Amino acid sequence: MTRVLTGITTSGTPHLGNYVGAVRPALAASRAPGVESFYFLADLHSLVKVQDAARVQRSTLEIAATWLAAGLEPEQVWFYRQSDIPEISELNWFLTCVAGKGALNRAHAYKAAVDRNRSDGEDDDAGISAGLFMYPVLMSADILLFNAQRVPVGRDQVQHIEMARDFAQRFNHLFGGDFFTLPEAVIDENVATLPGLDGRKMSKSYDNTIPLFAPRAELQKLIHAIVTDSRAPGEPKQADGSHVFQLYQAFASAEETAQMRQAFADGIGWGDAKRALFERVDAEVAPMRERYEALIARPGEIEHILRDGAKRLREKYATPFLAELRHAVGLRDLSHRAEPNGRIVEKSALPSFKQYRDSDNRFYFKFLDGNAELLIQSGGFDSPKQAGGLIATLKRAEQADAMETPGIVLHAPAARVLAALRQLREAGA
Ligand code: TRP
Repeated sequence: MTRVLTGITTSGTPHLGNYVGAVRPALAASRAPGVESFYFLADLHSLVKVQDAARVQRSTLEIAATWLAAGLEPEQVWFYRQSDIPEISELNWFLTCVAGKGALNRAHAYKAAVDRNRSDGEDDDAGISAGLFMYPVLMSADILLFNAQRVPVGRDQVQHIEMARDFAQRFNHLFGGDFFTLPEAVIDENVATLPGLDGRKMSKSYDNTIPLFAPRAELQKLIHAIVTDSRAPGEPKQADGSHVFQLYQAFASAEETAQMRQAFADGIGWGDAKRALFERVDAEVAPMRERYEALIARPGEIEHILRDGAKRLREKYATPFLAELRHAVGLRDLSHRAEPNGRIVEKSALPSFKQYRDSDNRFYFKFLDGNAELLIQSGGFDSPKQAGGLIATLKRAEQADAMETPGIVLHAPAARVLAALRQLREAGA
């Protein structure tokens, strides 16, 4: 199974660009065989940008309803809200403590904010919160907690995935285990970037969006407001480079697109082209819009779906994995033996026999487990050869009665000693 993880920041109202660029391809990908999909609402991330509580809440509801209306099946994929998984915040701190500040200094979003300050003649860090600075670490926690292998993202997020790999590697190295899988960014070249009303990339930061679930009349009005050139009806028009055409293509079949290209060459008027675009978009959106409105009307059900997803996900992955990570870094039960860094099972040393001569000049051996705990203590022998002979016999022991050999005292249950002997044999020692 390949784990694919997608996070959506809850800071706005979903628009056509989000649908074509993220929602639609992500849901299509989740239906491929051999994929375990994780979709979550990155509400903790939204706090970096938005300090309007009602807007965070509203956006979370709208985005959750959008994914459900678009066909996400909460029983088939993991669908949850970031803030419902406290393990993400705890891992965020572990990663904060291994992340290099230098790497964060070089993050594009932070650097861009500093550059803006400089060109405005302000102090470098004016108005920049530590949350913005730490954004890549929280994002790494989202990804690494679930050991996601693939993370579909836009180009602007590739650096964040590289940082997640870096932090994962450092953690694995420092704490001596392959705790984290190194994630890979996936950029889908076939996914269209939609132009917005003004022709620039459709984005809430440009305020040029067409909301995905605008009522029909508003959708029509917005589509008619898309900028075009001033060619009159009857004049041939260039399909490539036309925003109207690009939008049409994102919703139409290859055949419909070819027909529209021909209509452009034949001089279709902008009014007619926009009407065709509106009808095409509305045909795809209308059934979802109906489901969306029904969902939004019952926010308690969405709340329930999200909580249930988080609960199951915590039980299955987050809570046990975090317990292992807490142990790895040393947040441990004080009554347990101290163990150095290293993954408990995989990195512990093999059991071993230790032969020695004691002050009585006789020859002895001990058998220790991988943590140097005593399992067998021998009595004294006249020669090292005798001690060695018994060790050789013990190494072949398969049955509990072999533990009743004279000359040795067990310091652990026979089953445990046999298991350690088997471990030694399997390692070829
Ligand atoms: N930073 C992403 C964005 O702005 C949202 C996000 C948060 C995310 N955590 C993530 C995306 C983890 C992928 C994986 O689009």
